[in-house]
Amino acid sequence: MSTRHTPAPNDLRAFWMPFTANRQFKKAPRMFVRAERMHYTTSDGRQVLDGTAGLWCCNAGHCRPRITAAIQEQAAELDYAPAFQMGHPKAFELANRLIGIAPEGMEHAFFTNSGSESVETALKIAIAYQRAIGQGTRTRLIGRERGYHGVNFGGISVGGIVNNRKFFGTLLAGVDHLPHTHLPARNAFSKGQPEHGADLADDLERIVTLHDASTIAAVIVEPVAGSTGVLVPPKGYLERLREICTKHGILLIFDEVITGFGRTGAPFATDFYGVTPDMITCAKGLTNGVIPMGAVLTTAAIHDAFMSGAEHLIELFHGYTYSGNPIAAAAGLATLETYAEEGLFERAAALAPVWQEALHSLRDCRHVIDVRNQGLIGAVELEPIAGAPTKRAFQAFLDAYDAGILIRTTGDIIAMSPPLIISEAEIDELVGKLRDVLQRLE
Ligand SMILES: Cc1ncc(COP(=O)(O)O)c(C=O)c1O
Repeated sequence: MSTRHTPAPNDLRAFWMPFTANRQFKKAPRMFVRAERMHYTTSDGRQVLDGTAGLWCCNAGHCRPRITAAIQEQAAELDYAPAFQMGHPKAFELANRLIGIAPEGMEHAFFTNSGSESVETALKIAIAYQRAIGQGTRTRLIGRERGYHGVNFGGISVGGIVNNRKFFGTLLAGVDHLPHTHLPARNAFSKGQPEHGADLADDLERIVTLHDASTIAAVIVEPVAGSTGVLVPPKGYLERLREICTKHGILLIFDEVITGFGRTGAPFATDFYGVTPDMITCAKGLTNGVIPMGAVLTTAAIHDAFMSGAEHLIELFHGYTYSGNPIAAAAGLATLETYAEEGLFERAAALAPVWQEALHSLRDCRHVIDVRNQGLIGAVELEPIAGAPTKRAFQAFLDAYDAGILIRTTGDIIAMSPPLIISEAEIDELVGKLRDVLQRLE
């Protein structure tokens, strides 16, 4: 008799869940079965207020009719078109619309299917660009400690999160890291950009002295480091990084997978901080998280450097089967229309001060050692339990879920990034319920 496992209905064994404590989850699963605007419905029929826009991606809230209809219509009209050597109108339309809201200087969009792929694409373009302009010795990539750039080999190499790196061998060669910008002793409870730490960008000069500028292709940073707990750039830091990169002919890449599409109250963090990189990676909010899609935005100088040689030859040997996929492109167009029609980026900017004051009202709660915010992003850092890091915040996550709010935790930091359609009353509800959770925590 076969001993093969026969899946029963609702059997949870086969699905190996990403970034999840699988065994713990499967003993006490948390399932969402529906969503609408600001709320999820759980499998046991409860409403949960979404404090995280899914995974920082549903910026327009859930199940928005325009986006749903666009996907349905596109699936019935043109389901798929080959991405290489063929085109379809919506991919071009979306690239134009995206460039229309992109920061000044970004003139081309290369489509991917995720933030991780956007990062790999940008890193490859950076190295290939340097070669195309006769700087082929520039192959080194510089990331930052506590940076998160997705989970592929390039991204974890330039990334700075030990658990995402240590299990996976030697990673990419020729990578170095800037120091992170988290200075709790000097900057705790900063509202918006912290005062101290601009000088941390000067470490790039040390790295240039160590390796020589002629070996360095690009620096990649998140304008606001999201996944390691919302590290807002100190005042002057991004400006300094830009200055040093320009001085040494190093490309600057902003990873805006989280900060893109209104999260800071501007279309991109690039606009918000007024510092322009050479490339921007984005994903998530591009399609409101509904269909996987990402993009790399580049300057004309980068794009044009590839547009030489015989015209029948492929200029960049890179791309994905689903780059600019018709259904993703339709979702992207409907998403950008929704953002524009509802003024959601402006709404985020208008709500940011309310969000800031609500979050900082938690500073006197039990175990809270820092509160940080920018735009509609916020973090509450908790004192870890001695000998059991992450446990306290994870308990807060579980208690919050029971209390009807969705938050995220990373280490002992609670991170929040609600859909940009959140109301002031819902901000009060989110923060009020979180306060109750924190007050009850061991
Ligand atoms: C800054 C940043 N880059 C890249 C990624 C990876 O995106 P994805 O999970 O879509 O591959 C993320 C995901 O959270 C991110 O925050």
